[in-house]
Amino acid sequence: MSPPLIYLSPPDVGDAEREALLAAFESGWIAPLGPSVDAFERSLSELVGGSHVCVTSSGTGALHLALVLKNVGQGDEVLVPTLTFVATANAVRYVGAEPVFVDVDPESWTIDPELVAEYLAERSRAGAKLPKAVITVDLYGHPADYERLREVVQPYGIPILQDAAEALGALYRGQPVGVQGELAVLSFNGNKIITTSGGGALLGRDAALVSRARKLATQAREPASHYEHVELGYNYRLSNLLAALGVAQLQSLTRRVEARRAHRAHYEQALGHLPGFSFFTERPWARSTYWLTTALIDPNVAVAPREKVLGALEAARIEARPTWKPMHLQPLYQGARSLGGTVSRRIFEQGICLPSGSSLKASERHQVCDVIASAAG
Ligand SMILES: Cc1ncc(COP(=O)(O)O)c(C=O)c1O
Repeated sequence: MSPPLIYLSPPDVGDAEREALLAAFESGWIAPLGPSVDAFERSLSELVGGSHVCVTSSGTGALHLALVLKNVGQGDEVLVPTLTFVATANAVRYVGAEPVFVDVDPESWTIDPELVAEYLAERSRAGAKLPKAVITVDLYGHPADYERLREVVQPYGIPILQDAAEALGALYRGQPVGVQGELAVLSFNGNKIITTSGGGALLGRDAALVSRARKLATQAREPASHYEHVELGYNYRLSNLLAALGVAQLQSLTRRVEARRAHRAHYEQALGHLPGFSFFTERPWARSTYWLTTALIDPNVAVAPREKVLGALEAARIEARPTWKPMHLQPLYQGARSLGGTVSRRIFEQGICLPSGSSLKASERHQVCDVIASAAG
């Protein structure tokens, strides 16, 4: 099969990134520390209104660190929305804990706070051990329902860890995404709204916790010239060269968000009338980045079911994908506890992600719409 002509969410890079990368190279700081790492952390911190930031080699590494920082370990449970990318759940297993998968709300596609409330009340009544943390996922650029979740978890003192890997640039009740959880995680891998080719960040309001993250991410080296080690650490810091890319990318975050939002608006206008099609729409309290435009195709109404639409796009060399396969349906997590799951299953069975990159041209978007309209119109 030839490579796609139109990609789902390719890196959007240009001269600014090339220059920043070369300048970092010339500076001689070819290491997982240096002025670009500091500058990237400062810029991210400003963007999210002053949270402390530790940039990492991946979002997955940052998730792992967040769980270590909250002392999650063997024998602990962590609540995780079932509709997510596997990295969210895997990080829980890295620390020896078990994920308990929670279905999502049908409107926001994010963790259903009412299922969390029921589970915590039931565990508490039974005198059973409570989950050590709740991980939220701001899916496809849309924040979770933090206000309701806080009401639910606060009486039990359970921390919210925010997986905002897909949502940099989104707003929750007017606030930048990344400050709603006690700790939050971003990803800058190749398909994200800004990319460092590979990279991530851990964000938190507690300076001491984020400073501990920096230490853990550099093999937990003690401040001694002879390499003293007291605790287990990791090699999770972002390279200075890649941080330079991140600084350059961040400059155009607003343009990137607006481009993705415009794609979603256009797709809905062009395709929203097709029988069985419904586009995911942000909740009143959210401003999504629409990192990926997503829609459901109801097979009971649609002329062409989702698979046929995906097939038509593939034949036209356009990259599109089903929505995430829920974790409770993954062989890897067979046997894991799961609270509900029918909403996520339906989103998985009917959902499609359309090309949404910030460099996608209007003519390419038209092409996508033409292919879908002729397959499903
Ligand atoms: C929801 C979610 N969590 C975590 C990750 C992991 O980030 P990374 O690829 O930077 O490790 C990703 C994306 O890759 C993601 O989409």
